[in-house]
Amino acid sequence: MNHAGEYGAIRIYSAQIAVARRLWPDMVPALQQMLDDEIDHCAKFYAAMPERGSRPCRVMQLWSLGGSLLGLLTAMAGRRAIWTCTAAVEETVHQHLDEQLHFLENRDTGLHSIISSIREEELAHLEHAETALDGAPHSRVRTALRSLIALITDILIWLSTWGDSTRMTRALKAARANGTA
Ligand SMILES: [Fe+2]
Ligand SMILES: [Fe+2]
Repeated sequence: MNHAGEYGAIRIYSAQIAVARRLWPDMVPALQQMLDDEIDHCAKFYAAMPERGSRPCRVMQLWSLGGSLLGLLTAMAGRRAIWTCTAAVEETVHQHLDEQLHFLENRDTGLHSIISSIREEELAHLEHAETALDGAPHSRVRTALRSLIALITDILIWLSTWGDSTRMTRALKAARANGTA
C-alpha cells in the first residue's frame, strides 16, 4: 500500500524533472532532492513488507501512470503548478500517514518509527512547496487544481488500501471500545 504511493511520487517527480530540465532548470535541484527522498521511502517500505506478509499493491499500474501524467501536465503548466501539485500530494499523504501512525502506535513499533521518519521528510516537502507558493496571488484555478489533485490522490489511496483500511478502522473501533486507544 504505502510503497505504491511512494512509487507514484517517484513518477511525479521524475516526470517533472524531465520537463523542468528544459523549461525550468533552476527548479531541478529541489525536485531532485525530493525524488531522492521518495526513492528512499519506497525502498524502506519495500524492505518492511515481507516480514509483515504484505503483498505488492493491486493498483500499481494506476499509480505509475497517474503519477507520470500528473507530473508531466503540472510541469508543463508552470512553476506554480509544480508546487501546487507537490503541496496537494504531500498534504494528502501526510494525513494518510498520520492515520497509520495512530493505528501502529501500540501495534508495530518498528513500522511506526519508519513511518515517523518518512513523515518528517514529507512535511519538509510540503513546507518547501508552500514556501515556494507564498506570495503568489491566490487564483481560483490554483485552488481548484489543488483540490483536484488531492482528490485524485485520495481516490488512489482508497483504491490501494480499502481492504486494509477497513480492517484498520475496525481494529481502532474495537480498541477504543476496550479503552486501549
Ligand atoms: Fe514519500
Ligand atoms: Fe514526498
